[in-house]
This record gives sequence, structure tokens and C-alpha cells, in this order.
Amino acid sequence: MSRELQRTLAIIKPDAYSYRLIGAIIGEIESKSDLRIIGARALRLTREQARRFYAVHEGKPFYDKLIMFMTSGPIMVLALHGPDAITRWREIMGSTDPEEAKEGTIRSMFASDVTFNAVHGSDAPHTAAAELTFFFGDTDLIQPR
Ligand code: CMP
Repeated sequence: MSRELQRTLAIIKPDAYSYRLIGAIIGEIESKSDLRIIGARALRLTREQARRFYAVHEGKPFYDKLIMFMTSGPIMVLALHGPDAITRWREIMGSTDPEEAKEGTIRSMFASDVTFNAVHGSDAPHTAAAELTFFFGDTDLIQPR
């Protein structure tokens, strides 16, 4: 079956950033997938930006802790492109809870718990489009040939 070329958003979260895991995580992407990085930025989210980005989780028990964590330090956002990019990146990341993440996944190796879980990935085409737009303008991304 042919695989659809997609874009997705990856975030290297404040825990992984502060533990100097950016290189290791990008290494996992480049060595374990066909995905290519077509955009990258390092930034620190404001509280307002984090609340907007995670608006879908507002009211959930973990929401306040999530906002505190995501604004606690710098992050790196990556735009990834390639075959089935959304699913592929989620496979490489592993489950949200590192206790449930398969061996060899980024979260099984680098996440501490369900909050401090090293990385984020979009979960569907419409969220990927919205999340990429949140961080990148069209001219920020390399147009794959
Ligand atoms: P992320 O992929 O960034 O999307 C939402 C985040 O909420 C998730 O990763 C976790 O970091 C965080 N979170 C904290 N607690 C929970 C929980 N119990 N269930 C789901 N997500 C949680």
C-alpha cells in the first residue's frame, strides 16, 4: 500500500532540552525513519501560548501541571515531512506514559513520567496542520521536491 506524504509537528520538551537530548532525539528521527526535518526553531513558550496550544486539554486534571512544565524552559519545535509522518513520528516517540512505551522508543529511553515525557507529536492530519501553523509560517518550511 502506498504511504501518504505528510507533515507533522514534533516538540522536544523542556525536560529533554535541559538534559541536552536534542541531538539524541534528532538522531533517533534520522536513523529510524525516512522523515526529514523541514523546519526547526528553539523558543520558550509564554503562558498564553501554552494555554492556546493545549486548549483542548483545559479543565483536565493534568492541565495546570502541563502548562507549568511546558513554560518552564526552552523547547525545540520541528516540522517533519515524509511517508505517514504523523503515525511514524508517534511510533518513534512511544506511548504518552513512558511506563507503557515500547522498548527503544524515545519516551521509553528519555521520559520520566506522563508529564515529563520528553516529546510531543501531532495526533491527526487536522491537528498537525493547526500545530504547524502555530509555530511556522509557510515561508519558514523547506518545500520538499
Ligand atoms: P503531549 O503529547 O504533549 O499532549 C498532552 C500532554 O499532556 C501529554 O503529552 C502529557 O505530557 C500531558 N499529560 C500529563 N498527564 C497526562 C495524562 N494523565 N494523560 C494524558 N496526557 C497527560
